[in-house]
Amino acid sequence: MGFAYDQVLYPGFPLAQTHPDRLATIAGLLGMRALPPDRCRVLELGCGDGGNLIPMALGLPQSQFTGIDLAEQAVARGRTVIQALGLENISLRQMDLTKAGADLGEFDYVLAHGVYSWVPPEVRDALLRISRANLAPDGVAYVSYNAYPGFHRREMFRGMMLHHVRSVRDPAGRYQQAVQLVEDLAKCKLDGELARLLFDEQLQHLSETAPWVLYHDDLAGTNRAFYFHEFAAEARRHHLQYLAEADFVEMQAETDPEPVAEALERFAGGDVVAREQYRDFIRGRRFRQTLLCREEVVLDRSLQPDRIKELYIASEARPVSSQPDLREGVAEEFRGPRGAVLETDSAVAKIALCRLAGVWPQSIRFSDLGAVGEAARLAEILFQGYRVGLLELHTLAPQFAATAGDHPVASPLARLQAQQGAVVTTLRHTLIEVDDAIDRRLLQLLDGTRNREALLEGVRGEEIETRLDRLAKEALLLG
Ligand SMILES: C[S@@+](CC[C@H](N)C(=O)[O-])C[C@H]1O[C@@H](n2cnc3c(N)ncnc32)[C@H](O)[C@@H]1O
Repeated sequence: MGFAYDQVLYPGFPLAQTHPDRLATIAGLLGMRALPPDRCRVLELGCGDGGNLIPMALGLPQSQFTGIDLAEQAVARGRTVIQALGLENISLRQMDLTKAGADLGEFDYVLAHGVYSWVPPEVRDALLRISRANLAPDGVAYVSYNAYPGFHRREMFRGMMLHHVRSVRDPAGRYQQAVQLVEDLAKCKLDGELARLLFDEQLQHLSETAPWVLYHDDLAGTNRAFYFHEFAAEARRHHLQYLAEADFVEMQAETDPEPVAEALERFAGGDVVAREQYRDFIRGRRFRQTLLCREEVVLDRSLQPDRIKELYIASEARPVSSQPDLREGVAEEFRGPRGAVLETDSAVAKIALCRLAGVWPQSIRFSDLGAVGEAARLAEILFQGYRVGLLELHTLAPQFAATAGDHPVASPLARLQAQQGAVVTTLRHTLIEVDDAIDRRLLQLLDGTRNREALLEGVRGEEIETRLDRLAKEALLLG
């Protein structure tokens, strides 16, 4: 039997939480001197087909990218895309992590998403060894893994599904029968409210999970979870220290209701690792996306709002009121993604948030937000907004166009992907579905050789400007 990832493909996709821009931003907020993400070296361990690394390489042409994966076919598919895009700043290598050594070179960012929990102990050990040995002094490593206590819920179903398909070899059969089992059991009279909730959660998970992900992740031979304190201890053994979560909101006291903040203080005090562990206990966390740095780096966790003054800010948050009162002293509420809320009565902050909503998904540099004389106050409010998840911070200016030019150009990767289907990678390093067939056709034509007239011939009779605006809003255009 061959390597599982060569038998059933596992298409990769962009992960915004691993992008060097994100990691540099968080490292900077915690007092690190992370390297500028537009001139850096990135290593991805278990990179699969490069679905995450290739769009980074395309968007950051002055940076160098190396990916390693054991799966021959995944690497080969990635190389085909790299060749089609003519990228020279990325190489994918078919290699076992346990064989990778110092000769790989030094990297500012080392990424490993969806690998740590799914590999045997010696590969986990190699993953952390490389994350230290090949990491630059000011570098940041990203490692994601399943976490307890939340993973116990998944594990319960994993045990049932694995037992049920124990003698099924065929991958499609394993997937189908595992799903069928949970669906059938859920229809039985369940013993109490708790069982109902657990089954509902699992059914929801199954309905949102692609067959190959379920096959490789949930039904894998190896799929281990760790308490955060166990992971942090392993990292320490490799001379790495905890920096932050890649989803910064997840570690902010601002989003904790009062009793949670009080409990964390009581159980953990000022100890960062203990705090994170107890937060996992309280929230029942199931997955972590942890950033690490070398143990000798001196961090400053005081989170100074001033640090955002060098950054770009983007926000899709909207005022709740359709006609917000922007005068000083009148409180207005703004709502963003994932339920993020911020109320402020500061005129300068309200004006800034409305401006940001107007240009979304573009960002504006803090210094261009026009906070004359009130920069400190604005920084404080916007930083608060970042900590509750209302806005994004970036070290890099947006890499995509706000509007289409005379001869519009779309991301070459999105153009290539649009030939094969609806799912394409945006220049914000996210995935979207371009459902509209005409939009998809238009996207393929945007190679910079056609003006509006020529484009109209390709997508006749349609409101071209509306479509181009839509593609720009989805961060698919370069110009
Ligand atoms: C669950 S997939 C995650 C892939 C990708 N990082 C993602 O998130 O889409 C795990 C990856 O680790 C790779 N892998 C497993 N064991 C490995 C090893 N010993 N050396 C290198 N890669 C390995 C697999 O081939 C697979 O591509």
